[in-house]
Amino acid sequence: MSAPKKLFIKTYGCQMNVYDSERMGEALTSEGYVTTDSADDADMILLNTCHIREKAAEKVYSELGRFRPLKEANPDLKIGVAGCVAQAEGAEIIKRQPMVDLVVGPQSYHRLPELEAKVRKGEKALDTDFPEEDKFGQLPKRPKAARGPNAFLTVQEGCDKFCAFCVVPYTRGAEVSRPADRVLNEAQDLVERGVREITLLGQNVNAYHGHDGGLAGLIHALAEIDGLERIRFTTSHPNDMDDALIAAHGEVAKLMPYLHLPVQSGSDRILKAMNRKHTAEEYLRLLERIRAARPDILMSGDFIVGFPGETDADFEDTMTLVAEVGYGQAFSFKYSARPGTPAAEREEVAEDVKNARLQQLQSLLVQQQRAAQEAMVGRNVRVLFEKPGRMPGQMVGKSEYLHAVHVTADGIDAGDLSDVRIVESSSNSLAGELLSSG
Ligand code: 5AD
Ligand code: SF4
Repeated sequence: MSAPKKLFIKTYGCQMNVYDSERMGEALTSEGYVTTDSADDADMILLNTCHIREKAAEKVYSELGRFRPLKEANPDLKIGVAGCVAQAEGAEIIKRQPMVDLVVGPQSYHRLPELEAKVRKGEKALDTDFPEEDKFGQLPKRPKAARGPNAFLTVQEGCDKFCAFCVVPYTRGAEVSRPADRVLNEAQDLVERGVREITLLGQNVNAYHGHDGGLAGLIHALAEIDGLERIRFTTSHPNDMDDALIAAHGEVAKLMPYLHLPVQSGSDRILKAMNRKHTAEEYLRLLERIRAARPDILMSGDFIVGFPGETDADFEDTMTLVAEVGYGQAFSFKYSARPGTPAAEREEVAEDVKNARLQQLQSLLVQQQRAAQEAMVGRNVRVLFEKPGRMPGQMVGKSEYLHAVHVTADGIDAGDLSDVRIVESSSNSLAGELLSSG
């Protein structure tokens, strides 16, 4: 048998890309590839790209430039671009960077073996279709090798919401849900391989409709799997938080008390211009209902500052909403025009104004994040340990609230779910003492 070929995948952007990269690696094992952590000795390099914000395509072109010496040293090296930039740019990528052999959009990964065979013959391969077939259904069954305690599982892709700033409905296409039986089988397989926590992924995951009762129905069914201890999901749209999903936060013990529910802005005027189809007040009332179902839930969100037309008063509304919610975690971005989206046609807010607003918002969000972490000191949490920490004898894992917790004690293994008392809060993690192991 010939030596395996080496595949280096570099992943950008969201967790859905992390999941896709795993599946792409698996798809190419049939062509004799094993994945490697270094580009230097690779036979194939795949960039799994993200198009969500600023200058995404430019970053990909400059990253490709960095691989040029490798290609010059090894003409057999094949270079591919996958993900949302591949979808958006298509053949343009090969035109601008002729050393690229393969361009594959997010809905065509099951066709990678054929595409790889084509590039091995010295041809260029391009596939940015939105095929009818379900790519995950067509991909090889996932291998049985043991794996760590956490896994991502994509259950939904694409989005029909068309927020005015967002490129996702164009790069990932219309909303599609994977059938529940496939998801449940894959979850069962993952658990047999050592997984204890699954994060369900989708661009608009709470619009999932592959199971009776939607995402809530799927969560109830997953909770029946023995050995699966924790369920999370991300990312959600406020308008798809239905009654059953809200209730699930109080009913399903395995569903973790952490919810990423982006609002983007606190100004009704801007929410309307963003085509979010809800008001700030409706978002706040929704949170009240979620907190009634699960009082200790930790809220996370996304914000955009400097959306076209955002005035100082609109921005103040965002600050007021943040102050009212009290986020445990949040991500904030300067608006960046994405070609092809409705907002890209509108007049932009000045860059220095965007910068100042971002700074102001981020300092409030960091303050809230620290406060949420500090409030954990003295409390007992359950930690799912993942890997050794930086100090000898230390293990790191996550609490129910997704805080990183490190503990120094003998005999903790990755995959243990243990009671821990939090004793200290530092900038990005909590320190704890083991109360029980298991
Ligand atoms: N500009 C800035 N931020 C954006 N996001 C999506 N599109 C844009 C854009 N054009 C942010 C939103 C979204 C997160 C994943 O990225 O906050 O929730
Ligand atoms: Fe983009 Fe999310 Fe809006 Fe869909 S709901 S268009 S993915 S921001």
